[in-house]
Amino acid sequence: MPAISSSAPGKVILCGEHAVVYGIPAIALPVFKVSTTAKVFAHPLFEPGNVHINAPAIALDDSLTSLEQGHPLKIAIDLVMRELGVDHIPSCEIRISTTLPVSAGLGSSASVTVALVRAVSTYLGHPLADEIVNQIAYEIEKLHHGSPSGIDNTVITYGTPVFFELGKTIEYLKIASPFTLIIADTGIKSSTGAAVAGMRERWNADPTLYNTIFNEIGSLTLKIRKYLEEGSIEDMGKTMTENHKLLQRIGVSNDELDILVKSALASGAWGAKLSGGGLGGNMIALVHPEISLEVSQALLRAGAKNTITTVIPSSSGVRL
Ligand code: MEV
Repeated sequence: MPAISSSAPGKVILCGEHAVVYGIPAIALPVFKVSTTAKVFAHPLFEPGNVHINAPAIALDDSLTSLEQGHPLKIAIDLVMRELGVDHIPSCEIRISTTLPVSAGLGSSASVTVALVRAVSTYLGHPLADEIVNQIAYEIEKLHHGSPSGIDNTVITYGTPVFFELGKTIEYLKIASPFTLIIADTGIKSSTGAAVAGMRERWNADPTLYNTIFNEIGSLTLKIRKYLEEGSIEDMGKTMTENHKLLQRIGVSNDELDILVKSALASGAWGAKLSGGGLGGNMIALVHPEISLEVSQALLRAGAKNTITTVIPSSSGVRL
């Protein structure tokens, strides 16, 4: 049974989540320590056109035709078929496995779509270009999250640190020195769509207040970009913590995230903040590599359900 296999990473947001939905720049990094793999096994002996999908993370083990019309996986596959101008898929089984926690701010929905779109288009004989994969993943992100900025699907599709601003050309970021992040999970599932919708309600009630805060967040994103380019990692940490304080003010943090941020800072992290939609999910702490174990243990004692330590490598600003 020949198999086609495609993978996609997870992501963290270093600065600018939520504000990015309102046109403020943000910085996102791919995280390859967590990933999604989609495999397509050709099954010539299945009935013609029988496509079976197995995705244990969302308790799915069924045929494509039995999924409801609006199911994101079904729509993603339909969009691939439309793009390629094909009207049927040769019988196969699609297996999607992921090490990303779902609804935890690490980009699981975009990671699943990107891996799936790549695997299915390759199975159909025409691997899609990243630009198209990204467009399809953005359409599916809208189904999941309402009105997303597109930053998650972009960083996950291109697999490179990005400086992202709505409606502008994607910029790949230069990173002068590698740095270590600890990603800590509150264990609280949180829907990005709900967090973005809640933010929209608050913004509608007082756009002046929130635009002022979003602009402050935008200045932090620019500072962080500069620090990344110069290799000023400690300065970047302080700026991340400032970002967390502004995220608290716009109402997307919660006690569990705040406790983890405090614990990371108390145990020596250079900076810490929530990452992604907030209201649960994951936070990130920037640490000197020598104390990563200590900080990670402190985070677990403070209530983190899991931690992942990852080194973000230096990059030239050109896509790898
Ligand atoms: C989610 O990773 C980032 C948010 O800003 C939503 C988005 O930009 O689509 C919260």
